[in-house]
Amino acid sequence: MLLKIVFLALLSQVAHLAGDDFTYNGFNGVNLTLDGLASITPNGLLSLTNDTIHGQGHAFYSVPQKFKKYPADNVLSFSTTFVFGIIPEDPTLGSAGFTFVLSPTSDLMTQGSPNYFLGLFNMTNNGNQSNHIFAVEFDTYNSPEANDINNNHVGIDINGYISKKSYPAGFTSDEDGKFHDLLLFSGEPMQVWIEYNATDMQINVTLSPLWTPKPKNALLSCSVNLSSIILDQMFVGFSASTGTIYTYQYILGWSFKVDGKVPELNLSSLPPLPRIKKKAKILSLWLPIALLVFVLITAAVTFVVLRRKKFSELHEDWELDLDSTRLSYEQLYKATRGFKDENLLGIGGFGRVYRGVLPASRVDVAVKRLSYESKHGVRESVAEIVSLDKLRHRNIVQLLGYCRLKSELLLVYEFMPNGSLDNFLFSKGEQTLDWGQRFHIIKGVASGLLYLHEGWDQVVIHRDIKASNVLLDSDMNGRLGDFGLARLYDHSAAPHTTNVVGTLGFLAPELARSCKATTSSDVFAFGAFLLEVACGRRAIEPSKHDEIEEVLVDWVFENWKMGMIHETKDPRLGDNYVLEELDLVLKLALLCSHPSPSARPSMREATAILNGDLALPPLLQE
Ligand SMILES: *[C@@H]1O[C@H](CO)[C@@H](O)[C@H](O)[C@H]1NC(C)=O
Ligand SMILES: *[C@@H]1O[C@H](CO)[C@@H](O)[C@H](O)[C@H]1NC(C)=O
Ligand SMILES: *[C@@H]1O[C@H](CO)[C@@H](O)[C@H](O)[C@H]1NC(C)=O
Ligand SMILES: *[C@@H]1O[C@H](CO)[C@@H](O)[C@H](O)[C@H]1NC(C)=O
Ligand SMILES: *[C@@H]1O[C@H](CO)[C@@H](O)[C@H](O)[C@H]1NC(C)=O
Ligand SMILES: *[C@@H]1O[C@H](CO)[C@@H](O)[C@H](O)[C@H]1NC(C)=O
Ligand SMILES: *[C@@H]1O[C@H](CO)[C@@H](O)[C@H](O)[C@H]1NC(C)=O
Ligand SMILES: *[C@@H]1O[C@H](CO)[C@@H](O)[C@H](O)[C@H]1NC(C)=O
Repeated sequence: MLLKIVFLALLSQVAHLAGDDFTYNGFNGVNLTLDGLASITPNGLLSLTNDTIHGQGHAFYSVPQKFKKYPADNVLSFSTTFVFGIIPEDPTLGSAGFTFVLSPTSDLMTQGSPNYFLGLFNMTNNGNQSNHIFAVEFDTYNSPEANDINNNHVGIDINGYISKKSYPAGFTSDEDGKFHDLLLFSGEPMQVWIEYNATDMQINVTLSPLWTPKPKNALLSCSVNLSSIILDQMFVGFSASTGTIYTYQYILGWSFKVDGKVPELNLSSLPPLPRIKKKAKILSLWLPIALLVFVLITAAVTFVVLRRKKFSELHEDWELDLDSTRLSYEQLYKATRGFKDENLLGIGGFGRVYRGVLPASRVDVAVKRLSYESKHGVRESVAEIVSLDKLRHRNIVQLLGYCRLKSELLLVYEFMPNGSLDNFLFSKGEQTLDWGQRFHIIKGVASGLLYLHEGWDQVVIHRDIKASNVLLDSDMNGRLGDFGLARLYDHSAAPHTTNVVGTLGFLAPELARSCKATTSSDVFAFGAFLLEVACGRRAIEPSKHDEIEEVLVDWVFENWKMGMIHETKDPRLGDNYVLEELDLVLKLALLCSHPSPSARPSMREATAILNGDLALPPLLQE
């Protein structure tokens, strides 16, 4: 028996000796301990921060690693390599930074703070020996408090944010022996190696652009006895923070090993980083400007000579904006398995929609194929891209990329696993939504529409809000889709005058007179949408008795006048609804769909009313 125990003890020593290791080429399905702003994106990036300012995020391997070999107190050698990318809000400004960290706890939310504390320390515990924090910082902010050398450096931090040693980001090339600067927040992926040699107690940090083999010379090399800093067991991972502006800070792949050579990453299977907008760069080059001016003058002359060929002009302008999200036809062909019929999700007003999986990143997508035949179609599709590519909101279906063929435009969107809302509302019998889900979707769509109207530097009018243009993600959040009809105009400029577009039953009466789509006509359609969700009926339905179509808004209004507004609710809800919320939604719907635009609330007011922050104004009989 005793022998057996000794043997087991020996075995565990051997296991210790070998050391734990792990390798992640992308983080899809990986069980990490995440908190704060950290998340794993659908395409497998470990995202440490998002567009929240003054925030922090942490990601740790879910079980602690053993760093000491009993009974000795010496820290074992360890090494790690990872690939990161930092995408800034403003290409010229960093925000705070991130660190690779060894910590006694995986819960740093309470002891860490945002900004230059990097999510690791706070004002009171900074520098305290009992922190037992070892970190390598990738700092993109020059903070005097932390004695930073600049806004783009790598440093070794022990128990506090003032680095023991730091150096501007860059690498010494093995080829020419020269030091090359790297901009941490350039939006380009870079690889890092951190190695601790237990024999000579030296920690080395090496940085290089992705695909450049590890340079021989380390960026930072520092002798430090880690024995009193690193405990027997430590969590390994990353922490990050944002300051007065945000940056997206991503880890693409990561491997780690105690006592041995760290496994290499497979760089070709890492998920791609979102692209950074390159507009500023284009403008900084004179030749393209000269060319552009030439092209524009030529175009202007052609314009006059050939009368009004304005579509090709608009086309030119938009092309600049589009480059960021271009995908190859081959990728999309593979993604949808050759646009097979089995992958067909549906046929919409503009074209066919296919389900697919992007080959490189394994992201589920919906690919919309639009043919170019009518010039009108091109213009609208391109408008759709321009708007969606820049808009980012959790209640908007995100455009991930596009591809252009001679006579076709292919648009790639996030795949929405639960399909469109109308399938739940109007399908006969089977699946439906409970009141809680419906109210949640309504609030989401309201917030998405508010974002379109006010959340960006240009007003975006959706023009076709209805249940069938609301898609549901895996968490049953409502997301606005189909911006094919969206038009952009500046806050200051007067709205364009165009043909009436949209869907009967959702068109505000003033559109018939002026054809001017406004935020207020969107609010009208939002009202009709609210009724669709609450009543489980389409905005326009052929009446059972005669041929005359029944308009939902009118029907609910009639019922309200008779004091029977609650009778209009979807009978499938049964008794399972919150009366106050139902009442609020129905009355807000009537207010939004008021025939007079001036009586309608703005989306900001409508959202505040739904969230209970603003009282519903009384409805008036006409
Ligand atoms: C950023 O992450 C936090 C925490 O996960 C989340 O609450 C917040 O909504 C996210 N922000 C955006 C814009 O997604
Ligand atoms: C993730 O890892 C933790 C710690 O090992 C474990 O408790 C948890 O169950 C794991 N979660 C999943 C989904 O595997
Ligand atoms: C700082 O962190 C310590 C834990 O290390 C915590 O007890 C303390 O409340 C924190 N102080 C502040 C001001 O957040
Ligand atoms: C360091 O932290 C420990 C535990 O939080 C605390 O007891 C001690 O007073 C702190 N030391 C200093 C110098 O602040
Ligand atoms: C660690 O340092 C010792 C002494 O300088 C050296 O012999 C050994 O090769 C180093 N180990 C590694 C893994 O670099
Ligand atoms: C660290 O770098 C120094 C000098 O660049 C080198 O001599 C040493 O072997 C390196 N140690 C490790 C563990 O890579
Ligand atoms: C490293 O530190 C530990 C604990 O403080 C100590 O026991 C050990 O002797 C130190 N090693 C060297 C080489 O100084
Ligand atoms: C690396 O990943 C690529 C793409 O996923 C794959 O084709 C290749 O076999 C992988 N290489 C190794 C050595 O695993």
